[in-house]
Amino acid sequence: MEIVVSGIRPTGDLHLGNYFGALRNFLKMQHENNCYFFIADYHSLTTHPTPEDLHGNVKRVLVNYLAAGLDPEAACVYIQSDVPQIAELYLLLNMNAYVGELERVASFKEKIRRQPDNVNAGLLTYPTLMAADIIIHRAHKVPVGKDQEQHLEMTRNFVNRFNRMYKVDYFPEPTAYNFGEELIKIPGLDGSTKMSKSDNENSCLYLGDSQEAIRKKLKRAVTDQGPTEPNQPKPQAIENIFNIMKAVSSVDTYNHFSDLYNNCQIRYGDMKAQLAEDVIIFTNPFREKIAELTADTEYLRKVARIGAEKARESASKTVKEVREIIGFKSF
Ligand code: TYM
Repeated sequence: MEIVVSGIRPTGDLHLGNYFGALRNFLKMQHENNCYFFIADYHSLTTHPTPEDLHGNVKRVLVNYLAAGLDPEAACVYIQSDVPQIAELYLLLNMNAYVGELERVASFKEKIRRQPDNVNAGLLTYPTLMAADIIIHRAHKVPVGKDQEQHLEMTRNFVNRFNRMYKVDYFPEPTAYNFGEELIKIPGLDGSTKMSKSDNENSCLYLGDSQEAIRKKLKRAVTDQGPTEPNQPKPQAIENIFNIMKAVSSVDTYNHFSDLYNNCQIRYGDMKAQLAEDVIIFTNPFREKIAELTADTEYLRKVARIGAEKARESASKTVKEVREIIGFKSF
Protein backbone atom coordinates (compact mmCIF):
# COMPACT_ATOMS: atom_id res chain seq x y z
CA MET A 1 0.00 0.00 0.00
CA GLU A 2 1.41 3.39 -0.94
CA ILE A 3 1.70 6.27 1.47
CA VAL A 4 0.24 9.55 0.25
CA VAL A 5 0.74 12.94 1.88
CA SER A 6 -0.53 16.36 0.90
CA GLY A 7 -1.18 19.67 2.59
CA ILE A 8 -2.62 23.12 2.15
CA ARG A 9 -1.64 26.38 3.82
CA PRO A 10 -4.50 27.83 5.84
CA THR A 11 -5.29 31.00 3.96
CA GLY A 12 -9.09 30.76 4.17
CA ASP A 13 -11.44 28.98 1.80
CA LEU A 14 -10.16 26.62 -0.89
CA HIS A 15 -10.37 27.78 -4.49
CA LEU A 16 -10.76 25.81 -7.69
CA GLY A 17 -6.97 25.71 -8.12
CA ASN A 18 -6.55 23.94 -4.76
CA TYR A 19 -9.39 21.61 -5.65
CA PHE A 20 -8.30 20.55 -9.14
CA GLY A 21 -4.55 20.76 -8.44
CA ALA A 22 -4.47 18.79 -5.20
CA LEU A 23 -7.66 17.87 -3.40
CA ARG A 24 -9.43 16.08 -6.26
CA ASN A 25 -6.46 13.74 -6.70
CA PHE A 26 -6.36 13.08 -3.03
CA LEU A 27 -10.08 12.29 -2.86
CA LYS A 28 -9.62 9.66 -5.57
CA MET A 29 -6.78 8.06 -3.62
CA GLN A 30 -8.04 8.14 -0.07
CA HIS A 31 -9.77 4.76 -0.07
CA GLU A 32 -7.00 2.74 -1.73
CA ASN A 33 -3.91 4.12 0.00
CA ASN A 34 -2.54 5.09 3.34
CA CYS A 35 -3.38 8.80 3.12
CA TYR A 36 -2.45 11.79 5.25
CA PHE A 37 -3.91 15.21 4.54
CA PHE A 38 -2.95 18.14 6.72
CA ILE A 39 -3.35 21.87 7.22
CA ALA A 40 0.06 23.54 7.03
CA ASP A 41 -0.31 26.09 9.81
CA TYR A 42 3.42 26.21 10.70
CA HIS A 43 4.06 27.21 7.08
CA SER A 44 1.55 30.03 7.25
CA LEU A 45 3.54 31.77 10.01
CA THR A 46 5.98 33.03 7.35
CA THR A 47 3.43 35.74 6.56
CA HIS A 48 2.75 36.64 10.24
CA PRO A 49 -1.01 36.08 10.60
CA THR A 50 -2.73 37.36 13.76
CA PRO A 51 -3.75 34.64 16.28
CA GLU A 52 -7.43 35.14 15.35
CA ASP A 53 -6.76 34.87 11.62
CA LEU A 54 -4.61 31.80 12.13
CA HIS A 55 -7.24 29.82 13.99
CA GLY A 56 -10.13 31.05 11.82
CA ASN A 57 -8.31 30.07 8.65
CA VAL A 58 -7.39 26.62 9.96
CA LYS A 59 -11.05 26.04 10.74
CA ARG A 60 -12.15 27.22 7.31
CA VAL A 61 -9.71 24.93 5.52
CA LEU A 62 -10.74 21.97 7.67
CA VAL A 63 -14.40 22.65 6.88
CA ASN A 64 -13.60 22.99 3.17
CA TYR A 65 -11.64 19.73 3.15
CA LEU A 66 -14.48 17.81 4.74
CA ALA A 67 -17.14 19.51 2.62
CA ALA A 68 -15.22 18.52 -0.51
CA GLY A 69 -15.41 14.87 0.49
CA LEU A 70 -12.30 14.13 2.48
CA ASP A 71 -13.27 11.14 4.59
CA PRO A 72 -11.68 11.28 8.06
CA GLU A 73 -12.50 7.60 8.57
CA ALA A 74 -10.42 6.67 5.52
CA ALA A 75 -7.68 9.31 5.52
CA CYS A 76 -5.79 10.86 8.38
CA VAL A 77 -6.80 14.53 8.48
CA TYR A 78 -4.74 16.65 10.86
CA ILE A 79 -3.34 20.04 11.69
CA GLN A 80 0.42 20.30 11.25
CA SER A 81 1.11 22.06 14.56
CA ASP A 82 -0.61 19.18 16.41
CA VAL A 83 2.35 17.02 15.36
CA PRO A 84 5.51 18.54 16.92
CA GLN A 85 7.61 15.65 15.58
CA ILE A 86 7.44 17.47 12.22
CA ALA A 87 9.31 20.38 13.81
CA GLU A 88 11.99 18.03 15.10
CA LEU A 89 12.50 16.41 11.71
CA TYR A 90 12.60 19.90 10.14
CA LEU A 91 15.43 20.83 12.52
CA LEU A 92 17.36 17.69 11.64
CA LEU A 93 16.88 18.21 7.89
CA ASN A 94 18.02 21.82 8.12
CA MET A 95 21.47 20.62 9.18
CA ASN A 96 21.91 19.06 5.75
CA ALA A 97 20.21 21.76 3.68
CA TYR A 98 22.48 24.37 2.14
CA VAL A 99 21.75 28.09 2.05
CA GLY A 100 22.83 28.25 -1.59
CA GLU A 101 20.30 25.70 -2.78
CA LEU A 102 17.54 27.23 -0.65
CA GLU A 103 18.23 30.71 -2.03
CA ARG A 104 17.81 29.43 -5.57
CA VAL A 105 14.23 28.18 -5.03
CA ALA A 106 11.77 30.08 -7.24
CA SER A 107 9.13 30.50 -4.51
CA PHE A 108 11.75 32.07 -2.19
CA LYS A 109 12.83 34.57 -4.85
CA GLU A 110 9.18 35.36 -5.45
CA LYS A 111 8.58 35.97 -1.72
CA ILE A 112 11.59 38.30 -1.50
CA ARG A 113 10.00 40.34 -4.26
CA ARG A 114 6.58 40.27 -2.67
CA GLN A 115 7.41 40.84 1.01
CA PRO A 116 10.83 42.59 1.07
CA ASP A 117 10.24 43.76 4.65
CA ASN A 118 9.70 40.25 5.95
CA VAL A 119 12.34 37.94 4.46
CA ASN A 120 12.44 35.61 7.47
CA ALA A 121 14.41 32.38 7.92
CA GLY A 122 11.15 30.44 7.71
CA LEU A 123 10.76 31.54 4.10
CA LEU A 124 14.26 30.39 3.25
CA THR A 125 13.77 27.01 4.90
CA TYR A 126 10.21 26.52 3.61
CA PRO A 127 11.38 23.60 1.41
CA THR A 128 12.92 21.73 4.36
CA LEU A 129 9.73 22.07 6.39
CA MET A 130 7.77 20.85 3.39
CA ALA A 131 10.17 17.93 3.00
CA ALA A 132 9.69 17.12 6.71
CA ASP A 133 5.89 17.16 6.18
CA ILE A 134 6.24 14.59 3.44
CA ILE A 135 8.89 12.26 4.77
CA ILE A 136 7.57 12.25 8.34
CA HIS A 137 5.21 9.51 7.08
CA ARG A 138 7.78 8.18 4.57
CA ALA A 139 5.44 9.07 1.73
CA HIS A 140 5.67 7.83 -1.88
CA LYS A 141 3.17 10.13 -3.57
CA VAL A 142 2.27 13.76 -3.11
CA PRO A 143 -0.80 14.99 -5.00
CA VAL A 144 -0.09 18.68 -5.67
CA GLY A 145 -0.47 21.31 -8.38
CA LYS A 146 2.25 22.28 -10.83
CA ASP A 147 3.52 25.12 -8.63
CA GLN A 148 4.85 22.61 -6.07
CA GLU A 149 7.03 20.68 -8.52
CA GLN A 150 10.28 22.34 -7.48
CA HIS A 151 9.56 21.76 -3.78
CA LEU A 152 9.15 18.06 -4.50
CA GLU A 153 12.45 18.02 -6.33
CA MET A 154 14.08 19.56 -3.25
CA THR A 155 12.44 16.91 -1.07
CA ARG A 156 14.00 14.20 -3.24
CA ASN A 157 17.38 15.90 -2.90
CA PHE A 158 17.09 15.93 0.90
CA VAL A 159 15.94 12.31 0.96
CA ASN A 160 18.80 11.12 -1.23
CA ARG A 161 21.30 13.13 0.74
CA PHE A 162 20.08 11.63 4.03
CA ASN A 163 20.11 8.08 2.70
CA ARG A 164 23.58 8.56 1.22
CA MET A 165 25.02 10.30 4.25
CA TYR A 166 23.92 7.60 6.68
CA LYS A 167 24.29 4.72 4.21
CA VAL A 168 20.67 3.65 4.62
CA ASP A 169 17.70 3.16 2.35
CA TYR A 170 15.30 4.63 4.86
CA PHE A 171 13.26 7.32 3.08
CA PRO A 172 11.55 6.56 -0.25
CA GLU A 173 11.83 9.18 -3.02
CA PRO A 174 8.45 10.94 -3.10
CA THR A 175 6.97 12.17 -6.37
CA ALA A 176 4.47 14.92 -7.15
CA TYR A 177 1.43 13.10 -8.40
CA ASN A 178 -1.54 13.63 -10.67
CA PHE A 179 -2.65 10.21 -11.91
CA GLY A 180 0.17 9.81 -14.35
CA GLU A 181 -0.81 13.01 -16.12
CA GLU A 182 0.88 16.40 -16.17
CA LEU A 183 0.54 18.37 -12.95
CA ILE A 184 -2.24 20.93 -13.15
CA LYS A 185 -2.26 24.71 -12.96
CA ILE A 186 -5.69 26.36 -12.86
CA PRO A 187 -5.46 29.96 -14.13
CA GLY A 188 -6.86 33.10 -12.50
CA LEU A 189 -9.74 35.28 -13.68
CA ASP A 190 -7.46 38.32 -13.95
CA GLY A 191 -5.40 37.10 -16.90
CA SER A 192 -2.73 35.53 -14.66
CA THR A 193 -1.68 31.95 -15.28
CA LYS A 194 -2.32 30.82 -11.70
CA MET A 195 -5.42 31.18 -9.54
CA SER A 196 -3.86 32.44 -6.33
CA LYS A 197 -5.30 34.12 -3.29
CA SER A 198 -2.03 35.84 -2.38
CA ASP A 199 -1.74 37.36 -5.88
CA ASN A 200 -5.28 38.59 -6.28
CA GLU A 201 -8.27 37.60 -4.20
CA ASN A 202 -10.65 38.48 -7.03
CA SER A 203 -8.91 36.13 -9.41
CA CYS A 204 -10.16 33.17 -7.38
CA LEU A 205 -13.37 31.16 -7.40
CA TYR A 206 -13.86 29.56 -3.98
CA LEU A 207 -15.69 26.33 -3.20
CA GLY A 208 -17.85 28.28 -0.76
CA ASP A 209 -18.56 31.36 -2.91
CA SER A 210 -22.19 32.47 -3.09
CA GLN A 211 -23.97 32.20 -6.43
CA GLU A 212 -24.01 36.00 -6.75
CA ALA A 213 -20.27 36.20 -6.05
CA ILE A 214 -19.54 33.64 -8.76
CA ARG A 215 -21.66 35.50 -11.34
CA LYS A 216 -20.10 38.81 -10.41
CA LYS A 217 -16.51 37.55 -10.54
CA LEU A 218 -17.02 35.90 -13.89
CA LYS A 219 -18.68 38.95 -15.35
CA ARG A 220 -15.53 40.89 -14.44
CA ALA A 221 -13.10 38.21 -15.64
CA VAL A 222 -10.56 39.62 -18.10
CA THR A 223 -11.25 39.06 -21.81
CA ASP A 224 -10.52 41.08 -24.97
CA GLN A 225 -12.23 42.34 -28.13
CA GLY A 226 -12.49 38.84 -29.56
CA PRO A 227 -10.72 37.17 -32.49
CA THR A 228 -10.62 38.94 -35.85
CA GLU A 229 -9.47 35.96 -37.89
CA PRO A 230 -10.56 32.33 -37.67
CA ASN A 231 -8.53 29.61 -35.91
CA GLN A 232 -6.11 31.95 -34.19
CA PRO A 233 -4.26 30.91 -31.01
CA LYS A 234 -5.98 32.26 -27.91
CA PRO A 235 -4.40 35.08 -25.89
CA GLN A 236 -3.58 34.10 -22.28
CA ALA A 237 -6.67 35.61 -20.61
CA ILE A 238 -8.99 33.85 -23.08
CA GLU A 239 -7.10 30.59 -22.79
CA ASN A 240 -7.62 30.91 -19.02
CA ILE A 241 -11.41 31.11 -19.30
CA PHE A 242 -11.38 28.10 -21.62
CA ASN A 243 -9.19 26.16 -19.19
CA ILE A 244 -11.52 26.83 -16.27
CA MET A 245 -14.40 25.77 -18.50
CA LYS A 246 -12.55 22.55 -19.33
CA ALA A 247 -12.35 21.78 -15.61
CA VAL A 248 -15.99 22.41 -14.65
CA SER A 249 -18.21 22.32 -17.76
CA SER A 250 -19.23 19.46 -20.06
CA VAL A 251 -17.15 18.58 -23.12
CA ASP A 252 -20.06 19.70 -25.34
CA THR A 253 -20.17 23.13 -23.74
CA TYR A 254 -16.41 23.51 -24.07
CA ASN A 255 -16.49 22.45 -27.74
CA HIS A 256 -19.43 24.74 -28.48
CA PHE A 257 -17.57 27.85 -27.30
CA SER A 258 -14.32 26.68 -28.80
CA ASP A 259 -16.02 26.38 -32.22
CA LEU A 260 -17.54 29.85 -31.81
CA TYR A 261 -14.09 31.21 -31.00
CA ASN A 262 -12.56 29.56 -34.03
CA ASN A 263 -15.32 31.00 -36.26
CA CYS A 264 -14.91 34.48 -34.75
CA GLN A 265 -18.50 34.37 -33.51
CA ILE A 266 -17.81 34.17 -29.82
CA ARG A 267 -19.48 36.53 -27.38
CA TYR A 268 -17.53 36.44 -24.16
CA GLY A 269 -20.51 37.70 -22.16
CA ASP A 270 -22.41 34.53 -23.13
CA MET A 271 -19.45 32.30 -22.45
CA LYS A 272 -18.83 33.78 -19.01
CA ALA A 273 -22.53 33.58 -18.11
CA GLN A 274 -22.55 29.89 -19.07
CA LEU A 275 -19.34 29.28 -17.13
CA ALA A 276 -20.84 31.01 -14.06
CA GLU A 277 -23.84 28.67 -14.16
CA ASP A 278 -21.55 25.63 -14.52
CA VAL A 279 -19.35 26.77 -11.62
CA ILE A 280 -22.50 27.24 -9.54
CA ILE A 281 -23.70 23.72 -10.33
CA PHE A 282 -20.23 22.37 -9.60
CA THR A 283 -19.93 24.15 -6.24
CA ASN A 284 -23.55 23.70 -5.03
CA PRO A 285 -22.85 20.58 -2.95
CA PHE A 286 -19.76 22.16 -1.37
CA ARG A 287 -21.58 25.36 -0.46
CA GLU A 288 -24.32 23.53 1.41
CA LYS A 289 -21.94 21.28 3.32
CA ILE A 290 -19.63 24.16 4.22
CA ALA A 291 -22.52 25.94 5.97
CA GLU A 292 -23.51 22.74 7.80
CA LEU A 293 -20.01 21.84 8.96
CA THR A 294 -19.05 25.35 10.04
CA ALA A 295 -21.73 25.15 12.73
CA ASP A 296 -20.64 21.71 13.96
CA THR A 297 -17.68 22.57 16.18
CA GLU A 298 -18.00 19.35 18.12
CA TYR A 299 -17.51 17.25 15.00
CA LEU A 300 -14.55 19.35 13.82
CA ARG A 301 -12.90 18.97 17.21
CA LYS A 302 -13.34 15.22 17.04
CA VAL A 303 -11.89 14.97 13.52
CA ALA A 304 -8.86 17.08 14.49
CA ARG A 305 -8.26 15.07 17.66
CA ILE A 306 -8.43 11.67 16.00
CA GLY A 307 -6.29 12.89 13.08
CA ALA A 308 -3.65 14.31 15.43
CA GLU A 309 -3.40 11.04 17.34
CA LYS A 310 -2.97 8.96 14.21
CA ALA A 311 -0.48 11.38 12.63
CA ARG A 312 1.57 11.58 15.82
CA GLU A 313 1.80 7.80 15.98
CA SER A 314 3.27 7.58 12.47
CA ALA A 315 5.47 10.66 13.01
CA SER A 316 6.94 9.48 16.33
CA LYS A 317 7.95 6.19 14.77
CA THR A 318 9.83 7.99 11.99
CA VAL A 319 11.53 10.45 14.33
CA LYS A 320 12.58 7.65 16.69
CA GLU A 321 14.14 5.72 13.80
CA VAL A 322 15.80 8.82 12.34
CA ARG A 323 17.33 9.64 15.72
CA GLU A 324 18.78 6.14 15.87
CA ILE A 325 20.15 6.41 12.32
CA ILE A 326 21.77 9.77 13.08
CA GLY A 327 23.37 8.35 16.22
CA PHE A 328 21.50 9.89 19.13
CA LYS A 329 21.66 7.46 22.02
CA SER A 330 20.29 7.73 25.53
CA PHE A 331 22.60 7.07 28.44
P1 TYM B 1 -0.88 25.95 -1.26
O1 TYM B 1 -1.48 26.09 0.10
O2 TYM B 1 -0.45 27.17 -1.98
O3 TYM B 1 -1.86 25.19 -2.20
C1 TYM B 1 -2.40 23.92 -1.82
C2 TYM B 1 -2.44 22.99 -2.99
O4 TYM B 1 -3.20 23.56 -4.05
C3 TYM B 1 -2.41 23.58 -5.23
N1 TYM B 1 -2.74 24.80 -6.00
C4 TYM B 1 -3.02 24.80 -7.29
N2 TYM B 1 -3.09 23.79 -8.18
C5 TYM B 1 -3.43 24.13 -9.43
N3 TYM B 1 -3.72 25.39 -9.84
C6 TYM B 1 -3.66 26.42 -8.98
N4 TYM B 1 -3.97 27.64 -9.38
C7 TYM B 1 -3.29 26.15 -7.64
N5 TYM B 1 -3.14 26.92 -6.53
C8 TYM B 1 -2.79 26.07 -5.53
C9 TYM B 1 -0.98 23.58 -4.78
O5 TYM B 1 -0.14 23.06 -5.79
C10 TYM B 1 -1.04 22.70 -3.57
O6 TYM B 1 -0.98 21.35 -3.95
N6 TYM B 1 3.65 24.37 0.03
C11 TYM B 1 2.27 23.96 -0.18
C12 TYM B 1 1.61 23.38 1.05
C13 TYM B 1 2.37 22.27 1.66
C14 TYM B 1 2.43 20.94 1.16
C15 TYM B 1 3.29 20.25 2.07
C16 TYM B 1 1.86 20.28 0.07
C17 TYM B 1 3.12 22.34 2.78
N7 TYM B 1 3.67 21.13 3.03
C18 TYM B 1 3.58 18.91 1.89
C19 TYM B 1 2.17 18.94 -0.09
C20 TYM B 1 3.01 18.26 0.82
C21 TYM B 1 1.50 25.20 -0.59
O7 TYM B 1 1.87 26.30 -0.32
O8 TYM B 1 0.32 24.90 -1.21
